[in-house]
Amino acid sequence: MSNRMWGGRFAEGPDAIMEEINASIDFDRKLYRQDIAGSKAHVSMLAAQGIVSAEDAEKIAQGLDTILSEIEEGTFTFSRALEDIHMNIEARLAELIGPTAGRLHTARSRNDQVATDFRLWVRDSLDDLEAQVTDLMQALAEKAEEHAAVVMPGFTHLQSAQPVTFGHHLMAYVEMFARDRSRLQDARARMNESPLGCAALAGTSFPIDREMTAASLGFDRPTANSLDGVSDRDFAIEALADASICAMHLSRLAEEIVIWCSAQFGFIKLSDKFSTGSSIMPQKKNPDAAELIRAKTGRIYGALNSLLVMMKGLPLTYSKDMQEDKEQAFDALPNLSLALAAMTGMMRDLEPNVKTLKKAAGSGYSTATDLADWCVRVVGMPFRDAHHVTGALVKMAVDKGVDLHRLTLEEMQSVEPKITDDVYSVLSVDKSVRSRVSYGGTSPVNVRKQSRRWLKQLERE
Ligand code: ARG
Repeated sequence: MSNRMWGGRFAEGPDAIMEEINASIDFDRKLYRQDIAGSKAHVSMLAAQGIVSAEDAEKIAQGLDTILSEIEEGTFTFSRALEDIHMNIEARLAELIGPTAGRLHTARSRNDQVATDFRLWVRDSLDDLEAQVTDLMQALAEKAEEHAAVVMPGFTHLQSAQPVTFGHHLMAYVEMFARDRSRLQDARARMNESPLGCAALAGTSFPIDREMTAASLGFDRPTANSLDGVSDRDFAIEALADASICAMHLSRLAEEIVIWCSAQFGFIKLSDKFSTGSSIMPQKKNPDAAELIRAKTGRIYGALNSLLVMMKGLPLTYSKDMQEDKEQAFDALPNLSLALAAMTGMMRDLEPNVKTLKKAAGSGYSTATDLADWCVRVVGMPFRDAHHVTGALVKMAVDKGVDLHRLTLEEMQSVEPKITDDVYSVLSVDKSVRSRVSYGGTSPVNVRKQSRRWLKQLERE
């Protein structure tokens, strides 16, 4: 049998393989709520404009409500022969209310319908993600405040560089996630235009009111060009780009967690709730959640790349290629959501191993810069000379196999006679971090200021 919706010009129905490659119902059924909301907005506009009667509009709206409950209760039968969510719903509407159902599609095409549905879905996802990023920022800022004075090694090249505070390290991620959040907000604001009423591609001769449907679906305005309206997928690509950047940040943090909880580092204790064991090695406690967050990042990048490649060769306007946009977004955005939830849970539960961190912070001659700065401040040396002197002292300590503060004053003076006893006061890691009071620096005072500023701001929102 040829298709009921578009089969008028066909003598034969599609081949089974055609049906299989063409159907999107297996994934786009996810759009049922958006599709029904879009149809209800459309039909009440049609009635307001006198394009369909108020009575027919009422019948259609009631039928759509029935379908919504059928889908939510699991009694709706989805059919592959009906291709997609739009035609599945319309066909069911015809079963429920008869030929009046056919009036719903006046002044509309599946092209503007799917563009509207998908936008609504992406918009909801962006809103949910934004709330989740906010939760994560809160968890990080609370942990940072609690551990503002816990000293840990700061690294460059994964080599000990200078001591920093655990709180400062966590607050670095708050800044990253704050940028992610503002990107999600930007994307939402840019995408919030309604394609409904663009019809197939050229607009319609019916006197529709696109402002009305836009407003009732929560859009700021209708899209200004019908060709663009049906063929724009920037909104999904931008959402995936923002998701990718956010996932990249999550993945860096996840990688640090994996390193930190290894026996060799031992910087943190991961909660039992976010770790797993091994079926053979009884001692194991593995950071699987962090590893999976790292892995999901790859999938999310993949989705972004798929959409960019899929769209790059498409002439205006709609091509069926665009049907493949949804699976990517349906995979990537919920996975980002899961990754955010897992990271937030892990963050709330993890505890720093204060002693191990402090010991590690002092190793690797991490206060050498403090020694050089002391020479500048107290002895009055140019920094380059102070750097050289300190380098020689580090070499001496390395040769003797001791830490910097274990060199005797005589040993230090053999390199630079102007060094006095006072130098030992800057060689402790606590002193080192406390001295870093420059704006944005690691001192506990700064960290507390920043964590409180963020916590207050997040609370206000
Ligand atoms: N299932 C289709 C999609 O997701 C709906 C639009 C179909 N439009 C068309 N002209 N065949 O893209």
